[in-house]
Amino acid sequence: MRLALKTCELRSWHMGDLESLVRHADNRNIWMNLRDRFPHPYTKRDGREFLKHTRDQDPETAFAIAMNGEAVGGIGFMLQGDIERVSAEIGYWLGEPFWGRGIATEALIVLTRYAIATHALTRVYALPFASNAASCRVLEKAGYTIEGRLRNSAIKDGRIVDQLQYAFTA
Ligand SMILES: CC(C)(COP(=O)(O)OP(=O)(O)OC[C@H]1O[C@@H](n2cnc3c(N)ncnc32)[C@H](O)[C@@H]1OP(=O)(O)O)[C@@H](O)C(=O)NCCC(=O)NCCS
Repeated sequence: MRLALKTCELRSWHMGDLESLVRHADNRNIWMNLRDRFPHPYTKRDGREFLKHTRDQDPETAFAIAMNGEAVGGIGFMLQGDIERVSAEIGYWLGEPFWGRGIATEALIVLTRYAIATHALTRVYALPFASNAASCRVLEKAGYTIEGRLRNSAIKDGRIVDQLQYAFTA
């Protein structure tokens, strides 16, 4: 998959992305806002495992955010099952040097549309930590609506935190 956007490109991951993936992903400021399955520190071994996993994925749901050919972030969705098979959870991260340029917002708008069209979804949702003002702003700019606050729903870095439920419905 390859989609050219105004600020960046969304494309399939490949093994050649290892170095830039590790360089950008190995960042506590990114890890602090993601699930713990996103490793920290983020080693070459972690990067290799992730890239192998993306190579085997069918359907393809995890994509690189690339600038001038270099993978500088990731965006993907998790298709839900059973009666929630019309829903997917979306998640994203971007290398810190690229923050504040509208890249995540554009990537989110396009991948939301792609997920809905490709998998006949009626709902795409995200669960940012309530403290993650930048991600909440990105979701709002991309047309997501806040639906609620999940109090004390998660533990991150040893602290119990709230998550916010945002959704885009088709
Ligand atoms: C969240 C993240 C993807 C945003 O990427 P980005 O490309 O910088 O986002 P954009 O430039 O499209 O938009 C960011 C918006 O948040 C705003 N923002 C940034 N920091 C903020 C803060 N502390 N408080 C309020 N708003 C903030 C920016 O001003 C901008 O809004 P604006 O266009 O109205 O000015 C990036 O910061 C990141 O990777 N964070 C770590 C991982 C993460 O949080 N992932 C999401 C998990 S739900």
